[in-house]
Amino acid sequence: MITSIINPPFNSAPTGGSTCARPAATKRAQFTNRRFPQVLLSAGDSASHWGSCRKAPNVLYVWSGKESHLLAFVFALGAPEPWTRSWRGRAICVSGGTIRLVSSSPPDPLDFRTVQRAYDTVAEDYATHLPDTRAEAPLDLAMVDAFAEAVTSGGDPQVLDAGCGAGRMSRYLTGRGCLVQGVDLSSRMVAMARRDHRDLVFTVCSLTDLPYPDDRFAGVMLWYSIIHTPPAGQARIFAEATRVLRPGGHLLVGFQSGEGTRDLARAYRQFGHEIELQRHLYPADQVAAQLEAAGLREVCRLVRRAQGVERDDQAFLLAAQ
Ligand SMILES: C[S@@+](CC[C@H](N)C(=O)[O-])C[C@H]1O[C@@H](n2cnc3c(N)ncnc32)[C@H](O)[C@@H]1O
Repeated sequence: MITSIINPPFNSAPTGGSTCARPAATKRAQFTNRRFPQVLLSAGDSASHWGSCRKAPNVLYVWSGKESHLLAFVFALGAPEPWTRSWRGRAICVSGGTIRLVSSSPPDPLDFRTVQRAYDTVAEDYATHLPDTRAEAPLDLAMVDAFAEAVTSGGDPQVLDAGCGAGRMSRYLTGRGCLVQGVDLSSRMVAMARRDHRDLVFTVCSLTDLPYPDDRFAGVMLWYSIIHTPPAGQARIFAEATRVLRPGGHLLVGFQSGEGTRDLARAYRQFGHEIELQRHLYPADQVAAQLEAAGLREVCRLVRRAQGVERDDQAFLLAAQ
């Protein structure tokens, strides 16, 4: 079903490249070529995109009147219409000289294919640029230390680093006496973890479907690994983490605190990657309620203000079974 036509049919005849000065929200697309795609879609904070699109000819703006940011833009490189590409759970359709934003069914909160693709793409750079806990503030690590202490105070301190990425936090926990193994959705991230931490075991799987029996771990850590899951998908992740947690076991979750989403495409573009990746912010109270609904009790939490290059406040919740 077509929900909104975000610009009218184009009447202009093909001529050369368009200029890309930033339009006002109401400005119509400048269109210079009736044969558009090969199309590249991008979106997010406008600043970086305007920077790059200014250099490109034949840029067609798709501008959302409601939002203050650029919704999408299309580089017209000359392939024939009609053309459709899914984008952020919707579809951009180009046909008959009209661009339409088409609704599809609401995005499945547990469909992680885009996240997986994104991390497969950036894995090597992620491992290179974030090999350890240099990005963590001392307060953040104090929460990890409290988690490690709680886990190691009993016997058999088996810990699951759930959404381990390239394994840097697995290493940190190992250094604090935990017996760690990691899981991650991205096979390339897991490959980096195996390469850099040969003594540890890493497995490719989703947080929503952990390949472990009930009551397996004394601790489960979700360190910035729920951040790509929309709020509607969180319950499943926390239920699965709770399932593999022993009675008396501990769960630590770290995430950006707030509301809404952030587009990470721009951050990775500086490393030469064109990916689609968003992260979600959650109010700490909401995550605490989800943990409680999963059968855990909150032990403590830390919410600290953003510092340095961070854009958002950071939150850490320690809960117990
Ligand atoms: C921001 S990175 C954090 C990685 C690691 N915890 C760290 O601190 O370096 C997010 C990681 O979560 C993983 N991830 C996201 N959703 C996942 C899911 N549903 N199942 C498993 N891993 C997931 C991603 O593949 C990625 O490696």
